[in-house]
Amino acid sequence: MAKPGDNRQEEEINPNYQVDSATRRKAFRAMLGYAKPQRLVFLGVFFCAILAISADLLQPYLVKVVIDDNMLGDQGAGRVIGLGLIYLLLAVISMIFTYLQANLLQRAGQSIVAALRKDLFSHIAKQSMSFFDRHAIGSLVTNESSDTETINQFFTQVLLSIVRDGLSLIMIIGFMFLLDVQLALYCLVLLPLIAIIAVAFRKMLRNSYQRARTQLSRTIAFLAENLSGMSLIQSFHQEKEQVSRFSQRNRKYLKESLREVRATVIFNRSFDILGNLSVAFVVYLGGMAVFNSALEFGVLYAFISYIRQFFQPINQITQQWNTLQSTLVSVERLWRIFSVEPEVRNPKPEQAKELGLERVRGQVDFNHIRFAYSDDRDVLRDLELHIKPGEFVGIVGTTGAGKSSLVNLLARFYDVRKGSIQIDGIDIRQLKLESLHRIVGLVQQEPYLYSGSIIDNVRLFDESIDRDTVIEACRMVGAEQMIKRLKKGYDTLLTERGSGLSAGERQLISFARILVYQPRILILDEATANLDSHTERLIQQALNVVSVGRTTLVIAHRLSTVQQADRIIVMRSGGIIEQGSHKELLQQNGYYADLYHHATRGTAAGQ
Ligand SMILES: Nc1ncnc2c1ncn2[C@@H]1O[C@H](COP(=O)(O)OP(=O)(O)OP(=O)(O)O)[C@@H](O)[C@H]1O
Ligand SMILES: [Mg+2]
Repeated sequence: MAKPGDNRQEEEINPNYQVDSATRRKAFRAMLGYAKPQRLVFLGVFFCAILAISADLLQPYLVKVVIDDNMLGDQGAGRVIGLGLIYLLLAVISMIFTYLQANLLQRAGQSIVAALRKDLFSHIAKQSMSFFDRHAIGSLVTNESSDTETINQFFTQVLLSIVRDGLSLIMIIGFMFLLDVQLALYCLVLLPLIAIIAVAFRKMLRNSYQRARTQLSRTIAFLAENLSGMSLIQSFHQEKEQVSRFSQRNRKYLKESLREVRATVIFNRSFDILGNLSVAFVVYLGGMAVFNSALEFGVLYAFISYIRQFFQPINQITQQWNTLQSTLVSVERLWRIFSVEPEVRNPKPEQAKELGLERVRGQVDFNHIRFAYSDDRDVLRDLELHIKPGEFVGIVGTTGAGKSSLVNLLARFYDVRKGSIQIDGIDIRQLKLESLHRIVGLVQQEPYLYSGSIIDNVRLFDESIDRDTVIEACRMVGAEQMIKRLKKGYDTLLTERGSGLSAGERQLISFARILVYQPRILILDEATANLDSHTERLIQQALNVVSVGRTTLVIAHRLSTVQQADRIIVMRSGGIIEQGSHKELLQQNGYYADLYHHATRGTAAGQ
């Protein structure tokens, strides 16, 4: 079955997946934008690098001076000791500035990534529900954690290497020419050879790198999804299957990683061999020249040192190729997420309308709405529903009829495809999301709790709501006894998804939220389904207090929950098929009456 998310999977699986270069450039530029605030730090890194490299590269030159001008000449031992001390000083300088450079660079890199992570999270948090239908949680976790980490590596490794190794290379070539132009020219003959090797390996390294990355992200995504569904896996005794599916992915990752390592090692060794050959070459040419007294011995020594160091920066830079590749992949992936505009958006300032919380009367109009999650199937078809201020409306109907979808539209988790939804005559798309969510309070089918204390879960981390208000709300919904039984009472830390609490207890907490926030329009989606009838009655009482003068929509499978409603809406496959009060519906003797008789007969039989 093709789900909307499958495309993304396809892109991740296919290592040759490419976006056009304009997009890639745009993405890359956007990422570099994050480096801007750090430019002073980068400048500092640059200076430290220059100092450290200069101190490093002066060392062989110093030895040459000792050999040619002092040891072989006839000046005193005092100068040799002096030069020795300078050598030591250079080593210390190199150490200090390398340390400073590494420190500054990490600081810049980590700050960039911290900013990026924050923006990514707030971008994701802004997305509409359709975004989460399309993106697997596991891969979003990968985006937040490892993709941003790769970008850190770009700044701390790739950029560093380009600056440090690039500078070293230039300075080494400079020193070589300073020592002996002819020998230096001979050495430069090697450059095209190096280029050929680098290009030949480039594609191979890139492919193997990307394949390994793809496997890793799939493994992580698999892990994340499994961890959140562990109870399901265990209850169906799927551990073995899942473990084998996991080890299958893990094996693939291992294979690809090994292949990548092999490619890198072969590449590095080829470079080493080339390096050794060049040393032999210099020793041969230079040695002959020394024999013929055309070259001083000290110069030859320094030359050999430089040619050895010559390959190191080149090797380093080419090794960064991998990291650069993975940065590009990560940047593209992040960019794809960043470029998703939330479907549900705040109104443009010129179209925005104000609706103060106190002034809301609570009239709700669904005007000929049509809605679908995907293009192939309408979930709600031309639905018309008008709710008077303060009306208590019950919604019942078959599973999958579109009840939750209807109320989710009112909370603007999604937007209608056609028609409009109005509150007090104002299209909800013209209201700021923040004020809409203050006006409309929703208790969902599966209430979500955050990691945090009970107090924070009720007030949603809003410190302006004081503790007593929260405790009062919990008392009103009858959650007090349950909370008092917990070890730390109201300060008990709940874990994500509220484990440690039963489904009903979780629902009580979300009811307390409603009491604290007092929205003008109240929606309960199967909110009392998990409660025993005693607790449900408690909630009902609390709600009766809160819902006075408030528009209330209650979705329920248990008909008794909505029997008292001013009006009951009966839904079936995306439309309203009957409506009226309990009595009226029974008189109509239609679908509702059927349901009702079925239910009462069921209870009678059960007793
Ligand atoms: N996130 C989603 N993405 C795609 N389709 C969805 C999504 N949520 C619901 N649907 C589909 O929309 C239809 C209506 O679902 P909805 O959740 O509104 O039903 P419901 O009346 O609330 O059912 P229930 O009584 O089981 O809660 C269903 O056919 C369902 O498959
Ligand atoms: Mg539902």
